[in-house]
Amino acid sequence: MELHIQAFLNRISLIVSTIATVILFSILLHPPETCIPHLSPHNPLKFPHSTCDSHHHPRPFSTLEKKNHRLWSTSAWLNKVKSFSRVFIDAQKNNPSHKFSILSNSSKSLCLLAGAGQEVMALQQIGVSDVTAIDLVDSPPLVSRADPYYLPFFDDAFDFAFSAQFDVALFPSRFIAEMERTVRVEGFCLLLVEECTDEEVRQIERLFKRGELVGADNLTFSGSKMTRIVVRIINSTIY
Ligand SMILES: *[C@@H]1O[C@H](CO)[C@@H](O)[C@H](O)[C@H]1NC(C)=O
Ligand SMILES: *[C@@H]1O[C@H](CO)[C@@H](O)[C@H](O)[C@H]1NC(C)=O
Ligand SMILES: *[C@@H]1O[C@H](CO)[C@@H](O)[C@H](O)[C@H]1NC(C)=O
Repeated sequence: MELHIQAFLNRISLIVSTIATVILFSILLHPPETCIPHLSPHNPLKFPHSTCDSHHHPRPFSTLEKKNHRLWSTSAWLNKVKSFSRVFIDAQKNNPSHKFSILSNSSKSLCLLAGAGQEVMALQQIGVSDVTAIDLVDSPPLVSRADPYYLPFFDDAFDFAFSAQFDVALFPSRFIAEMERTVRVEGFCLLLVEECTDEEVRQIERLFKRGELVGADNLTFSGSKMTRIVVRIINSTIY
């Protein structure tokens, strides 16, 4: 009788330890899901920005559309676009300070440090359809990400280049060198800078190695006093 019970207990303990082993192996072979992706050379450790889900389930595109729809209907956005439109409509006219138009509907245009893209929208609204805009951070669909100090464009690729953020460029001479490199001969560069003196305008002009100053004037832009500087590219090679 005792022997019989002993054998029964042995069998139970064997079954229990088998089940435990199977569970242990299944945990080892199928680790539970975690937020942190597995480390490998192709998948370096990235910490989730906000929630676990953002990494694995990209937000649907409609969320971006909704976000843009909200942004584009704010009065701050609309006013900025209107201010840019005025500057570009001016650039399309043969006005006294420029003597000729520096921008047309068919100009292949480049916007540098374009931020959220108000100037892109302004150009498109007045009829300039071929607009490329870049900044260090992208803002789809208006602005792509690229390095303004090392532009991913060929020499002479554009008819017109614009920036309202030259003031904040960390490397001004490199910024201008890249801007003028990508504009063709007889094309134009237009800068909108904080209001500056004639000497400061001359300093900016000297950064252009292929272009000459066409005109500089002061204007009120979106409530701030700014200086508009227009340079025409005249030399195909840098002397
Ligand atoms: C430029 O395009 C706008 C909008 O399409 C149009 O109203 C305007 O007449 C065009 N300008 C020229 C000079 O063709
Ligand atoms: C713009 O305003 C500044 C400061 O008042 C002045 O020094 C400069 O001459 C003005 N530039 C032009 C082109 O009128
Ligand atoms: C353009 O090239 C000529 C030589 O052909 C040179 O004398 C002049 O300084 C250059 N101008 C600019 C703005 O690059």
